[in-house]
Amino acid sequence: MKEMYQTFVEATKYPNLSEPDQKKDKPQPPIELPVKESIKLIKLPEPANIDFAGFDLRQAIEERRTHRHYKEDTLSMDELSYLLWLTQGVKNINEKRNVTLRTVPSAGCRHPFETYLSINRVEGLESGLYHYFASEHQLVPVRIDSTFNQELTEACLGQRQVATSAVTFIWVAVPYRTAWRYAERSYRYLYLDAGHVCQNLHLAAESIDCGVCAIGAYNDDAADQLLRLDPPEMFVIYMASLGRKP
Ligand SMILES: Cc1cc2nc3c(=O)[nH]c(=O)nc-3n(C[C@H](O)[C@H](O)[C@H](O)COP(=O)(O)O)c2cc1C
Repeated sequence: MKEMYQTFVEATKYPNLSEPDQKKDKPQPPIELPVKESIKLIKLPEPANIDFAGFDLRQAIEERRTHRHYKEDTLSMDELSYLLWLTQGVKNINEKRNVTLRTVPSAGCRHPFETYLSINRVEGLESGLYHYFASEHQLVPVRIDSTFNQELTEACLGQRQVATSAVTFIWVAVPYRTAWRYAERSYRYLYLDAGHVCQNLHLAAESIDCGVCAIGAYNDDAADQLLRLDPPEMFVIYMASLGRKP
């Protein structure tokens, strides 16, 4: 095990990196996945108009803990919009540099994630898999199917909090967005970036009386197949179940 760790750390040290594609003048990858024009998008409530009456940041941090049991409540669209905004919301697109500025930090502003949602109980949304079109703050239905969440639960080694969640966030990494600039070192940054996203979800959830369980224990192949991803180009890097606190 130590050897694997040493190999990874050595290969990602600055003196050992290959020349990144950015230095070779290769074109920059797109800031997000394209959305088919034929798909009917679902507009999310405007984040600026959502007011959940401030919550003390210190209180949110001190009270945060993992929640694996949830009420059977349905989340509102305002709540879902708020959670997506605070985890991956695009505040600004710099067209010249072809980068997004978001509500979370990301090494080199590469923002290498796509957010997918397994929706169980959100008002106005049928159960199934959705994709967050971050630059437009809209949702893309991917697989409207009430059995999707059961399949996701199985991929998460049967963890009950996924089955009973109102929504489970699935963060998918697109490594080349970061590797284009940082070559091998990007594989450190992907996982660091993902931690920021999930922590924002924890804190945002606290402020609306919801609880979160980060999910790192899942069958990688099953999760990637379920989302029809083609690793290593794209793969599930992290998940989190969420629901109203009991
Ligand atoms: C990277 C990561 C992966 C995790 N994966 C799981 C998981 O798959 N299942 C689970 O029940 N909890 C998971 N957790 C939650 C931890 O078990 C939990 O944070 C830890 O026990 C500390 O408890 P606290 O969050 O209440 O402070 C994960 C947490 C992190 C940060």
